[in-house]
Amino acid sequence: YVIGVDLGTSAVKVLLLNREGEVLAEASRSYPLFHEHSGWSEQRPDDWVEGTIEALHELTQVSGAAAEAVEGISFSGQMHGLVLLDGEGIPVRNAILWNDTRTTAECREIESLLGDKLLRVTRNPALEGFTLPKILWVKKHEPEAFAQAELFLLPKDYVRYRLTGQLHMDYSDAAGTLMLDVAGKTWSHDVLAAFGLPHSFCPPLVESHACVGTLLPEQSSRCGLPAGTKVFAGGADNACGAIGAGILQDGLTMCSIGTSGVILSYEQGSGRDYEGKVHFFNHGKQDAFYSMGVTLAAGYSLSWFKNTFAKDESFDDLLAGVDAVQPGANGLLFTPYLVGERTPHADAVIRGSFIGIDGSHERIHFARAVMEGITFSLNESVDLFRAAGKTVDTIISIGGGAQNPVWLQMQADIFNADVVALENEQGPGLGAAMLAAYGCGWFGSLDECAESFVKRSSVYKPQSSAAAAYAGLFRIYQQVYTQTAGLNE
Ligand code: XUL
Repeated sequence: YVIGVDLGTSAVKVLLLNREGEVLAEASRSYPLFHEHSGWSEQRPDDWVEGTIEALHELTQVSGAAAEAVEGISFSGQMHGLVLLDGEGIPVRNAILWNDTRTTAECREIESLLGDKLLRVTRNPALEGFTLPKILWVKKHEPEAFAQAELFLLPKDYVRYRLTGQLHMDYSDAAGTLMLDVAGKTWSHDVLAAFGLPHSFCPPLVESHACVGTLLPEQSSRCGLPAGTKVFAGGADNACGAIGAGILQDGLTMCSIGTSGVILSYEQGSGRDYEGKVHFFNHGKQDAFYSMGVTLAAGYSLSWFKNTFAKDESFDDLLAGVDAVQPGANGLLFTPYLVGERTPHADAVIRGSFIGIDGSHERIHFARAVMEGITFSLNESVDLFRAAGKTVDTIISIGGGAQNPVWLQMQADIFNADVVALENEQGPGLGAAMLAAYGCGWFGSLDECAESFVKRSSVYKPQSSAAAAYAGLFRIYQQVYTQTAGLNE
């Protein structure tokens, strides 16, 4: 048996799998988020550790004999979050998370100091969510805390450190720090030198499937796991989501609609240049990469709509009858910029809109417009991939957006591609478990593991009349950004 740990932003979820890739048990624990000021988002690293141990304890209690036969465990983690450790390995302050936007000034500083080198080396633009701007923010605003800091980690690396006593970071997560030479797979001397950071500030780099140690005796007994359970490095949540969806070969693209939304495309090499318009990160599969566009408020837009206009109803009630509304929601258009946008605009200030409201519109038209607006936003990322010469004809859909057949058909029509749903989709936790399964030697490669663990179910094909209607609306959608930028400045 293997265990996948998915360390998310609101909760940690753990899965126990057998050699056939069947999920036998799962458990989760949530932990608080702290928003001390507008735009700030922090968590206590020790809450992750305690939550993970409690969830593992529950998992092993319910799975009985299987727990005694667990061979390996691995991790998927929320990306970019900064954990600063002192010389004793204790966090000097709370972690600053990926969705914290306090670092605009530091991003401008990074751009001006690094110039062209930034994109050439790190393959990504300086965004508020990434790790280096957070390090510079602490250095500037909390010099005492910074003076104590000897090393930085990302969220899942801290949890793994506490479980094993070993300090590491894998390439897929390191890629989101803006300090990694992504193609060269080393910490960038140029970036570190530009900001006066010593190499010792960065942990040793490893592959996602690398075995980095075993559980500490005290932690294995707290979790109810065998002493000597092997621990594998694991990867960034998007890399693990890609592994769990079988995005392991050229030509495969993933659409994930959770709180945020992602369009992610496999890259065999580091050659394709998107000029920083989409993220370009190392994959959890050795020596591969992926490119990715992000919609910040994807599922979040629909949750906001439900909480505001249908608070006491379920999502099923809210969306009942949405299939009876024609594509285009009778002329109603929504842009999902509730918390700004990442791809293609990288704009923290822009806000969303409903356009084209008619006296005959009812709540269901607004609900459909929200689903369409989220999908149009993701289609801007699909468009960027196509503009860079990629063929996007098969998209594996995961997350909340893949639970609803109307939304799956809408994705096929708006993306103008075949959209594939998975059986028993498990998101990044499955990818983490697959890294452990491959690391344990159950399979010769991650691809082989995916053949047996990732099971496809239905395929949604684009319908020509809906696809044509959406293609016209998409052009209007794209103008809304340009026309409304400035409204909230
Ligand atoms: C990716 C990103 C998010 C986090 C969520 O760049 O910021 O997808 O990984 O955990």
